[in-house]
Amino acid sequence: MKRENPNGEFNKSEIQTREATADDLPIINKLNGREAENIEKMELQRQGKGKFLLLEKDGEIVGFSFICFEHSSYHFPGRDDLKGPFLEDGFVKEEYRRTGIGQIGLSRCEAIIKKNEGKKVITAVGLDNEASVAFHIKNGFKPIEDAKFEMPYKQNTQKKYGIYFVKDLEPD
Ligand SMILES: CC(C)(COP(=O)(O)OP(=O)(O)OC[C@H]1O[C@@H](n2cnc3c(N)ncnc32)[C@H](O)[C@@H]1OP(=O)(O)O)[C@@H](O)C(=O)NCCC(=O)NCCS
Repeated sequence: MKRENPNGEFNKSEIQTREATADDLPIINKLNGREAENIEKMELQRQGKGKFLLLEKDGEIVGFSFICFEHSSYHFPGRDDLKGPFLEDGFVKEEYRRTGIGQIGLSRCEAIIKKNEGKKVITAVGLDNEASVAFHIKNGFKPIEDAKFEMPYKQNTQKKYGIYFVKDLEPD
């Protein structure tokens, strides 16, 4: 059985999107545990270089994503074709996973990138993150064959590398 979540699959209209503010940081930090990076992302948003997008259901934050318009901390040196727009830290709250919310978030990010004249979206995924690899392939991303990054902090796994994915965005 594909969907085991008692919440079922959500309609797009049930999931609202808004830009994060500093007041949302405690909840975001609790969800992804990346306090310093989240502060950095809020600053990029303040400078107009990124957008921290929250997904909410009935006022509860159920997911988020960060769009980096100009550069990314995952930027591969010497590869300007991998600069972005870049999607970072797509996240869905554990109890809501596999209910379509990730796809709703992705399509909202893609719409924002297109509105900003973006023609493609890039992301970086650890090979140990099987859910994320499957998610991106299902949603039309293609692996960039000649670029990978090392994750030396990953212990006890043979999957110490990550790969870049790219998706060309169709004009509306
Ligand atoms: C990756 C992530 C954002 C996906 O969000 P999600 O809301 O669960 O994904 P969706 O329900 O929209 O799934 C869409 C499709 O992606 C694929 N997919 C998602 N999770 C999967 C999993 N655990 N195993 C296999 N395929 C999966 C499936 O093809 C799924 O379609 P299906 O359910 O019809 O088979 C979510 O797993 C997550 O938050 N993970 C933790 C944070 C993270 O690792 N983020 C990625 C950083 S690169």
